[in-house]
Amino acid sequence: MKELYEQVAEQVGRVVVGQEEVLRALLGAMAVGGHVLLEGPPGVAKTLLARATARALGLDFGRIQFSPDMLPSDVTGSQTLRGGELAFRPGPVFHALVLADEINRTPPKTQAALLEAMQERQVTVDGVSHALPDPFLVVATQNPIEYEGTYPLPEAQLDRFLVKVKVDYPAEEEERAMLALARDGLEPSGLEGLTPVAGAQELVAARRAVGAIAVADEVSAYVVAVVRATRALPSVELGGSPRAAVHLQGAARAAAALAGRDFVIPDDVAAVAPAVLRHRLILRPEAELERYSPDDAVATALGSVPVPR
Ligand SMILES: Nc1ncnc2c1ncn2[C@@H]1O[C@H](COP(=O)(O)OP(=O)(O)OP(=O)(O)O)[C@@H](O)[C@H]1O
Ligand SMILES: [Mg+2]
Repeated sequence: MKELYEQVAEQVGRVVVGQEEVLRALLGAMAVGGHVLLEGPPGVAKTLLARATARALGLDFGRIQFSPDMLPSDVTGSQTLRGGELAFRPGPVFHALVLADEINRTPPKTQAALLEAMQERQVTVDGVSHALPDPFLVVATQNPIEYEGTYPLPEAQLDRFLVKVKVDYPAEEEERAMLALARDGLEPSGLEGLTPVAGAQELVAARRAVGAIAVADEVSAYVVAVVRATRALPSVELGGSPRAAVHLQGAARAAAALAGRDFVIPDDVAAVAPAVLRHRLILRPEAELERYSPDDAVATALGSVPVPR
C-alpha cells in the first residue's frame, strides 16, 4: 500500500504540484472503499487531481457536472427503447472513479440519486438493479461559499462520505513550480502520458489487505470513545454516528497501511479524525456565532479522551 502510494504520487506529481494530503486521502478512501468530499475554491486542481489519480491507478474515469436542471436519471441512466426493445442505458455514474463536480448545485432529488448509488453500490431503475463497478469511488466537490441557488447537502447524506478534505491554495513556490509544467495552450499536457501503476484488481487486493490490518481492543475502544465524545460536547447539536465510528476505524486502517504498518496505532486515529468527523457534526448556533468550527469540536473531543498506550 505504501509502495502503491509512492508510485501513484510519482505519476500524479508530474502534472499536479503539491496537494499530497488530498492524494493521500483519495488513496486512503480507495483502500477502504470510501467516498471523498473535496471542499475548496475554484482552480486549485480538484478536477486535475482526480483525473490524474484515476489515470495513475488505471481506473476508468467519469465526470458529472451537477447543475440546477439535472434529473436523477441524468446520474443513474434510464430505460430507453433500442431496436424496439427496452434496454438500460447506464448513466455517467457507471465508472470506477466518478468526479461529482459541484454537487451542491443540484436539487436534493438528484443529489439523493448519487448518494444512494454510493451507499448501495448499485442503481435501481424501474425496479431493476444494476451493479456499479468494483472498485467504485465517488469524489464529490463543493464550493465552501454557499451562494444563492445552492443546495447544501443534508448531514444525513454527508455521513456517507468517508472524509471531507479541504483543498487549499498552494504555497508560493508550488504556484511558481506549477507555471513551469508543460502545457498545451492553457491545459496541462502531461495527463495522457502518465503511466498506470495499478488496475482495478490491484485495488481490490489492496482493499482486502487493508481490511486485514490489526486493530487492538484498546485502539477500537479509543475510536468509539472519540466518536462518543463528539456527541457529549455542549457546543455540538449532532455528534458522530455509529457509521462515523466504522468510518473512523476504516480510515485509520488506511492511514496505517499508507505508513507501511500492519496494525493501527492511536496516532492513526487522531490523524484522520478531523477529515472523518468534521462534516458530520452540527454545532449549536451559539457555538457557530463564536466562530467555533467543527474542526475545533473534533480537537476538543480528541483532547477529552485519554490516549491508550
Ligand atoms: N497544484 C497544481 N498543480 C498543477 N496545476 C495546477 C495546480 N493547481 C491548479 N493548477 C492548474 O489550474 C488548472 C485548473 O485546475 P482544475 O480545473 O483542476 O481546478 P478545480 O479545483 O477543479 O476548479 P473548479 O472548482 O473551477 O472546477 C489546472 O488545469 C492546472 O493547469
Ligand atoms: Mg473542477
